[in-house]
Amino acid sequence: MWRLPGGVCFGDGMTGFDDPAFYGARWASVYDDRHGGLDPEPAVDFLAGLAGGGPVLELGIGTGRIALPLARRGVAVEGVDASEAMVGRLRAKPGGESVPVTIADMAGVGVGGPFRLVYLVANTLFGLLSQARQAACFQNVARVLGPDGMFVIECFVPDLTRFDRGQRVQALAVTEDSATFELSRHDAVQQRVTTQVVTLDVDGVHLRPVAIRYSWPGELDVMARQAGLRLADRYAGWDRRPFDSASGQHISVYRAG
Ligand SMILES: C[S@@+](CC[C@H](N)C(=O)[O-])C[C@H]1O[C@@H](n2cnc3c(N)ncnc32)[C@H](O)[C@@H]1O
Repeated sequence: MWRLPGGVCFGDGMTGFDDPAFYGARWASVYDDRHGGLDPEPAVDFLAGLAGGGPVLELGIGTGRIALPLARRGVAVEGVDASEAMVGRLRAKPGGESVPVTIADMAGVGVGGPFRLVYLVANTLFGLLSQARQAACFQNVARVLGPDGMFVIECFVPDLTRFDRGQRVQALAVTEDSATFELSRHDAVQQRVTTQVVTLDVDGVHLRPVAIRYSWPGELDVMARQAGLRLADRYAGWDRRPFDSASGQHISVYRAG
């Protein structure tokens, strides 16, 4: 991190949102701290149940939040990620050296297969910032799945009531020494949300940007069908509770063939 006069600090990524490595350059150093409250076990139970004998591929494997506990269950997991910074955090953890990871753009998938299961969790599909890139990801996943293979995604269901005239401001954390808030702008035509998570503390102003292009569940199903995949199951959570119009997220299982 470096600092401008006036205490404004930036991460080391000087690239833009369209660079697949941009997210990791800005978030890797704080990712595990910020997501430490998320219990990976329900996702790991679900994925281990589908993995059979493997092998299994995680797109956007990141710091190994899901892949490492899955590997500890004996599942043969490998990963793709665009960010050396995120994968460096994975490598530093016990077992992290032995998970094969390819540094590549997940829209192109970039590994051979065939895989029994490919998964993409934590809304990471929406990090591909156009419908065309998300559709390309489905096409490439279909290419590397085995004949009875499955593609599992975890995504939020868009909720446009979060935005007031195309914007949203939210206080995330306020302590004696710091304040963290989130500023977002919503483009309904591009289905794109651009966010800065801003922390003010004694060291200055810290900016953590993130951009997503959301898709509706039905839109994802069309991308899947165009890739030759069919929706087999959709749940509202990793515990397989039923998905309905009140659900805020979905776990969708697409099958090859
Ligand atoms: C929100 S993190 C999720 C990490 C991990 N799957 C988890 O659940 O904790 C998103 C990950 O996707 C990676 N990523 C974002 N865009 C990518 C792209 N186009 N190709 C490959 N990886 C990408 C980031 O580097 C980051 O590691």
